[in-house]
Amino acid sequence: MSADAPGTSGKAEQRLCERLRLREHEEEVLLHAMHAGDAGRQAVVLSPRAPKDYEPPFSCASSEQFPWLPARVRIPEVGESPTRHADHAAGMYYVLDLSSCWEGSALSTLTQTPQRSLDLCAAPGGKTMLLAAQFELRDHTANEVNAARRGILRQNAELCGLPNTRITGLRPDQWGSSGELFDLVLVDAPCSGQSLLCKGIKNPGCLGSAAVQGNAKRQRGILLAAVRCVAPGGHLLYSTCTYAPEENERVMAYILRRVDGFTACEVPTLTAYQSALADFPAYRLLPHHGAGTGGFCCLLRRKGNNNII
Ligand SMILES: C[S@@+](CC[C@H](N)C(=O)[O-])C[C@H]1O[C@@H](n2cnc3c(N)ncnc32)[C@H](O)[C@@H]1O
Repeated sequence: MSADAPGTSGKAEQRLCERLRLREHEEEVLLHAMHAGDAGRQAVVLSPRAPKDYEPPFSCASSEQFPWLPARVRIPEVGESPTRHADHAAGMYYVLDLSSCWEGSALSTLTQTPQRSLDLCAAPGGKTMLLAAQFELRDHTANEVNAARRGILRQNAELCGLPNTRITGLRPDQWGSSGELFDLVLVDAPCSGQSLLCKGIKNPGCLGSAAVQGNAKRQRGILLAAVRCVAPGGHLLYSTCTYAPEENERVMAYILRRVDGFTACEVPTLTAYQSALADFPAYRLLPHHGAGTGGFCCLLRRKGNNNII
């Protein structure tokens, strides 16, 4: 990763804001969040282990402010510490970023429970947990290439009692040539992680063009393999936690141009977040939206009839 020269990160931020075509107040909120590192907000996903009527032992915000929020997700009030409770250690809920929940909420558009699902970049397990919160897992594969992270993924899956789930560690190209088909593939891609700055996490070089271009290249490679795993009529959800259009809208535009038979799907609950940088359905969350640090998601559908069962 390359950084702008010391003392010039302001220029990189400015260039990012220009590429995002932000309005003045949006730019102000983003820059403030990047400097203050105070835009992070947690959410908890109730796990398959938690009984149907379970509620977490801390106060939660009203979900009315977040109409896209999936049913088994709660937002702890600011000041609550959900990881401190015994129920967390017992796997009753999984704690993750609110913005990550926003990305995973795009799955609510699916009209059928996936019969076979693959989470290609799964550790530590947040998107898989969100899938399990919205649909019964019938035959799920949670894949992670990094062995240490795969260990954490396995622990989380066991703790939260994920049913019908196998943990694997293949590279995306190995999946692409495996001949295995899934009616849902999740690609929560490794990215430059610019939104981490808004949580107060140092991420040197994340705004620089080398980091952004390098990640975009890796994302295109992962996606070209991932699309080969999507069954006719199946879906692929792409998401990142970075702002750069090169890693988001442009990667999706590349895939839609390069791969036949895929279209981007409208997600009615996310209409208000339609990206102005895409001429297809693609959604962008930024700190000024008040749901955490931000993220990007785009749901693709492969044409054809879903006959995976
Ligand atoms: C954004 S994180 C995934 C977070 C996870 N989906 C969740 O919600 O908890 C991206 C993951 O991709 C993995 N990764 C890194 N390089 C990769 C590659 N070339 N192909 C596939 N996965 C990769 C990382 O190890 C990391 O676990």
